[in-house]
Amino acid sequence: MSQQQVLEAQSLTVQRGGRPVLHDVSFAVGEGEVFALLGGNGAGKSTTLLTFLGLIEPHQGRAMAFGQDVQGNEDAIRRKAAYLPETASLYAHLNAWENVSYFLELARSPRPRDELSQAFDEVGLPADARDRRLESYSKGMRQKVAIALALLRSVPLLLLDEPTSGLDPVAIDEFNALITALAERGSTVMMVTHDVYGACQVARRVGLLRRGELVGTFEAPPEGMIDADELHRAFARSHAS
Ligand SMILES: Nc1ncnc2c1ncn2[C@@H]1O[C@H](COP(=O)(O)OP(=O)(O)OP(=O)(O)O)[C@@H](O)[C@H]1O
Ligand SMILES: [Mg+2]
Repeated sequence: MSQQQVLEAQSLTVQRGGRPVLHDVSFAVGEGEVFALLGGNGAGKSTTLLTFLGLIEPHQGRAMAFGQDVQGNEDAIRRKAAYLPETASLYAHLNAWENVSYFLELARSPRPRDELSQAFDEVGLPADARDRRLESYSKGMRQKVAIALALLRSVPLLLLDEPTSGLDPVAIDEFNALITALAERGSTVMMVTHDVYGACQVARRVGLLRRGELVGTFEAPPEGMIDADELHRAFARSHAS
């Protein structure tokens, strides 16, 4: 394990609305790793991602990304990260090409149409959908456009908030395969989810968050996956009290 740490929460404590929502949370995510933070509603999952993006300030402890404190280096970190919020922030009245071109322009990295086409191929966005406005897309298709955009930005880090919620089982499998392929090419992925099974399918390591506290970490065996039943039981136990 000589991996460089891409993300590191160091005794992170965060308050929102005057209430503590993360308490003394520590974990690290290495380069090329897929890490999932699993927890129930209100556990503090989205808050953790927002803290790594520098959108929320920690009260104590530090959020580190690429070896730098996020605080004071927000722009540098955001340039290296693609963030998929709970509801994808793409434009419904634009088609796939227009959406991706627009956001690449904003990021000051416009790309030629053949590269866009290649990215759409890679994420499996059907060719006949690309000219249609996103208002006619299913959630899974929108998610593919968002991932294509992340690919085109060539950022080393993906922060995904509930990326598979609302997707059907086939779309979830496709999504998981895509994330695994990205990680194999060196991208680092942190996703937050309440989907136990999905977390086991993609993540080599899962942190269990309960009411702002990290109550357990699970690691996949070298050749296998994290046992979903065991994780499910741990989740249920931790949320029972
Ligand atoms: N803007 C806000 N102002 C005050 N408190 C907030 C705000 N957003 C979230 N919170 C509180 O922070 C806590 C953690 O919220 P967070 O959104 O991080 O949870 P989550 O794990 O992402 O939940 P979910 O699974 O429902 O998305 C909750 O108690 C929530 O009520
Ligand atoms: Mg959330």
